[in-house]
Amino acid sequence: MEKMLKIQGVGADELAKTYGTPLYIYDQNAIESKMRTFHDHFQSELFETEVLYASKAFCIKEMVRLAKQHDLGLDVVSGGELFTALSAGFDPSRIYFHGNNKSFQEIEEALQAGVGTFIVDNVMEGAYLCEKANLHPDQLHVMIRVNPGVEAHTHEYIVTAHDDSKFGISIHEEETLVELIQQFQSTPSIVFDGFHAHIGSQIFEPQAFETEVEVLAQFIYELQKRYGIETKCFDVGGGFAVHYTDADAPIPIPQVCETIIAACEKQKNKYQLPLQKVMIEPGRSIVAEAGTTLYTIGFQKKTPHRNYLFVDGGMSDNIRPALYQAAYDCDVANRMDETKTIPTCVAGKCCESGDVLIDEILLPASQAGDLLAVYTTGAYGFSMSNHYNRLCRPAVVFVKDGTARCVVKRETYADLLRGECEEG
Ligand code: LLP
Repeated sequence: MEKMLKIQGVGADELAKTYGTPLYIYDQNAIESKMRTFHDHFQSELFETEVLYASKAFCIKEMVRLAKQHDLGLDVVSGGELFTALSAGFDPSRIYFHGNNKSFQEIEEALQAGVGTFIVDNVMEGAYLCEKANLHPDQLHVMIRVNPGVEAHTHEYIVTAHDDSKFGISIHEEETLVELIQQFQSTPSIVFDGFHAHIGSQIFEPQAFETEVEVLAQFIYELQKRYGIETKCFDVGGGFAVHYTDADAPIPIPQVCETIIAACEKQKNKYQLPLQKVMIEPGRSIVAEAGTTLYTIGFQKKTPHRNYLFVDGGMSDNIRPALYQAAYDCDVANRMDETKTIPTCVAGKCCESGDVLIDEILLPASQAGDLLAVYTTGAYGFSMSNHYNRLCRPAVVFVKDGTARCVVKRETYADLLRGECEEG
């Protein structure tokens, strides 16, 4: 085995030297390959399909450009994500605007921009849109986010009739849903397309998606039978698991796509649904595995029960371990050929005991100045990064076919002060 970790053919040492650390490194070939795989496998002969990249996982202009190049649609949840998408030249008609509390201003911005579809999260939003849509020249497509009562958490999923989620409207609140849809149908400038649901994140069980589709199909059928409401579109959401550590065996993407397509085809036939289009919204599964964070190792210390190894970042660039006890795998990037014998706790530099990136992992002996690579950090790392302790956000580098380029500059101390108003 070579001594130095390479990402898309470029040595970690070279990347650290050119761009500094901490550094978010993305294998662009890997991102593009995921996008292609989703696009090519999420196809049906019975209905149109569309893969929407859930941009919250990692939203920068370069990602939006890649989504565009690979013919994906885009899920945005805020004015900021929308602005990023529009700045990257994304076709607004292929943008889906999500969110449980879109502000009046965000709604106005989206209407002005000609955003294709609003995913309406609650009744108040629906009523507001009906008022506003009439003032705009274009027709506005809407879908309603519903809770099918299928909740998936990694390996487990439950089906329940109770739903206290802050997102969406429960399918069991039939009257509310029917009234809302009728309101849409009586608003000339609004086109009601169908329903959206999202049952969780980092889901390993294909059956959870099959159940989601089954439950929704039955619900759609009932609405049609009892109220004559026709559902043309159906957005199954995202949540497909990725490999963080060897404890994770995610469903391969082609199988995710085939499972959902097969379930939708089956239900369409079973209930004779007038379904014209099905969407999915992968975020994590497109970018997580393509990302690696490179740190410089600093001091180390031993306590009675632990060998601490400290790195030059932490919960400021990756809050997931602190927030969700998320597990990661790592290597000393310049000692890939050495035997891993030391149980090590990898901790960050933030003033918070919980700032531990990896609780315990075997690593080779290392010294200050060595490089530590944490894998699978491409999703919800940069997008949830913060300025705790006034750490500057790291740079982002994309590596494609053996060539690296900076796509986001490292922040400077001056950037930290940029928004501050001078006294007086
Ligand atoms: N669609 C909707 C409506 C969503 O709410 C989400 C994620 C997605 C799609 C994309 O899900 P994905 O394929 O990325 O799992 N910060 C958390 C994840 C929050 C996900 C929120 N919604 C984390 O770091 O694990």
